[in-house]
Amino acid sequence: MRSIKNILVTGGAGYIGSHTYVELKEAGYTPIILDNFSNASRGVIDRLNTLFQDKPMVIEGDIRDTSLVEKTLVEHQCDAVIHFAGFKAVGESMAKPLKYFEVNVGGSERLLSAMKNVGLRKIIFSSSATVYGDPQELPIPEAHPLTSASVYGQTKLMVEEMLRAVYAADREWSICILRYFNPVGAHLSGLIGEDPTGVPNNLMPFISQTAIGRREKLSVFGNDYDTPDGTGVRDYIHVVDLAKGHVAALDLMATPHCTPINLGTGNGISVIEMINAFEAASGKKVPYEIVDRRPGDIAACYADATRARELMDWNAERSIHDMCIDTWRWQSQNPDGYN
Ligand code: NAD
Ligand code: UD1
Repeated sequence: MRSIKNILVTGGAGYIGSHTYVELKEAGYTPIILDNFSNASRGVIDRLNTLFQDKPMVIEGDIRDTSLVEKTLVEHQCDAVIHFAGFKAVGESMAKPLKYFEVNVGGSERLLSAMKNVGLRKIIFSSSATVYGDPQELPIPEAHPLTSASVYGQTKLMVEEMLRAVYAADREWSICILRYFNPVGAHLSGLIGEDPTGVPNNLMPFISQTAIGRREKLSVFGNDYDTPDGTGVRDYIHVVDLAKGHVAALDLMATPHCTPINLGTGNGISVIEMINAFEAASGKKVPYEIVDRRPGDIAACYADATRARELMDWNAERSIHDMCIDTWRWQSQNPDGYN
């Protein structure tokens, strides 16, 4: 059997996709990016070029374009797909549900159909810890019941269900469902990182934009949760560790299966602990005020990361300090992101 070499990376110009591109290249794979740049800057591609002195292979197009995807899979002799493409803003998903169902669910169906049409049955899918809802136990194992409080979360659950059904019908598929906890940080080079459009929804980009002076102060959403200091607790994972998790998952593509795997550190960190860690790493003050809870937020969420260790020999290695140092390097070298 041909070994896995050429990988189609949908959404490969995005935050997690671009970091995964780097780790794939470094591990000797040939990644081919398929992205419609609906939430990515073309500047990312220049940065990847700078990093490797090698022009990335990029197909500008949409995962819903079945004939383009089929043509790409065949022409580039793709051996597996890593599927990042989709939308991820929780608030927007509630306001524009059809946009999310169309791209996240419909787009994944189109992609899977294209793969099936050309006889390729190996896929790694980006799911999220959001499919666990408000956790009934901590740390959260993969067997935890699945539910969702947002349209975004529902789309992730629906694609997971679609993948399980595809595998039930055809046991030749090899499917890894990776459930990410909270990805943060940036590549050590400072060349690529997270560049959200508009006001960031997530904690880490808001902290770093406050530290650089783009935002006046951080709003801490509630300090009356049932957690040690009252602020929300999450499992932040360095995006480079997360990217390496995808490379590790490729080793599971040799045999048929359909397996959900948590990618997290297993450690919970509070908002206040993150602010303190960021101030220590950057030497900058992060002014903040405590405000009301954000609707839909949960108190605490962190992974049981045992399965990833047992199946893939993968562990998150980077500390909270590394996450803050690397975010700050990216933010201070690129105060306006890719622009
Ligand atoms: P991102 O928005 O930076 O990357 C997504 C990429 O997909 C973008 O480059 C965008 O241009 C592209 N894209 C969107 N729709 C497309 C389409 N129809 N055809 C082709 N390309 C399209 O997001 P990210 O943070 O890198 O997340 C990647 C994946 O991981 C997403 O599926 C997201 O839901 C999932 N995820 C992210 C997080 C997180 O906190 N970042 C957490 C859990 C899961
Ligand atoms: C959010 C999404 C989740 C998604 C995840 C991706 C919501 C309700 N949930 O989760 O579906 O999978 O991002 O990483 O949007 N916080 C502040 N001030 C801020 C921003 C955040 O105090 O300005 C707090 C939050 O209350 C939370 C923690 O920081 O306790 C982390 O928030 P965030 O980065 O948005 O991630 P999640 O809430 O875990």
